Amino acid sequence: MLLELLKKRRSVRKFQEKPVETEKLETILQAGLISPSGKSKRPWEFVVVDNSKKLEKLSKAKPAGGQFIKDAPVAVVVLGDSQKSDTWIEDGSIALTFMQLEAEEQGLKSCWVQIDKRPSEDGRGADAITREILGIGDNLKVLAILAMGYPAQERPPYTEEDMEFSKIHYNSYGSAYKRR
Ligand SMILES: Cc1cc2nc3c(=O)[nH]c(=O)nc-3n(C[C@H](O)[C@H](O)[C@H](O)COP(=O)(O)O)c2cc1C
Repeated sequence: MLLELLKKRRSVRKFQEKPVETEKLETILQAGLISPSGKSKRPWEFVVVDNSKKLEKLSKAKPAGGQFIKDAPVAVVVLGDSQKSDTWIEDGSIALTFMQLEAEEQGLKSCWVQIDKRPSEDGRGADAITREILGIGDNLKVLAILAMGYPAQERPPYTEEDMEFSKIHYNSYGSAYKRR
C-alpha cells in the first residue's frame, strides 16, 4: 500500500558512507522523468552529483539547512526553466517528490534542501552559488536539492496521530470532516 511507504518517508540528514548503487539511482531518476507537469512541458532538468568536492561546495550554498549534503553519497539538483513554463516550481516540486518516494522504495532515505528564494552568505542567493558550482546557465533556476543515501539515523514513521484531520473540511469550509 502506497500509504505505508508515505508513512515511512521521513527526512533523514545523516547518511552511511555506502554509495548508492547505479541501478537504484537510475530507477529514482526514472521516477522524476515521468512525473506529471503542467501542459506536459517538463520544464525541469536534473544534475546528479556524487563528486565529494562538489557535494561539499553545495553544502555551503546557503547559510543554514544544507550542511548535511556534504555527507550524502549523492544528490540530485532539480532545475527549472521558468521561460518554458509558469508552473516550473510546481513541476519541479512534483519531480523531486516522485524521486524522493522512489528513493524510499529503494530502501534509501533523503531530504529536500531548498535553494530557490534562499539567501547565501555573500548576498548573491543560494541559486546563484549553486549555478556557479555546477556550471548552470542563467536561463535555468535552481529549485532544490534532493540529498540521499543509506540512513545513519532512525526516524519514526508517521502514524494516524500525526494526521491533522481538522485540516479537512466537508462540502463547506465551516463543516468539519468526520472520519469514516
Ligand atoms: C519545500 C521544502 C523545503 C525544505 N527545505 C529544507 C531545507 O532546506 N533543509 C532541510 O534540512 N530540510 C528541508 N526540508 C525538509 C523539511 O524540514 C521536512 O520535510 C519537515 O521537517 C517534515 O519532516 P519529514 O520530512 O520527516 O516529514 C524541506 C521540505 C520541503 C517540502
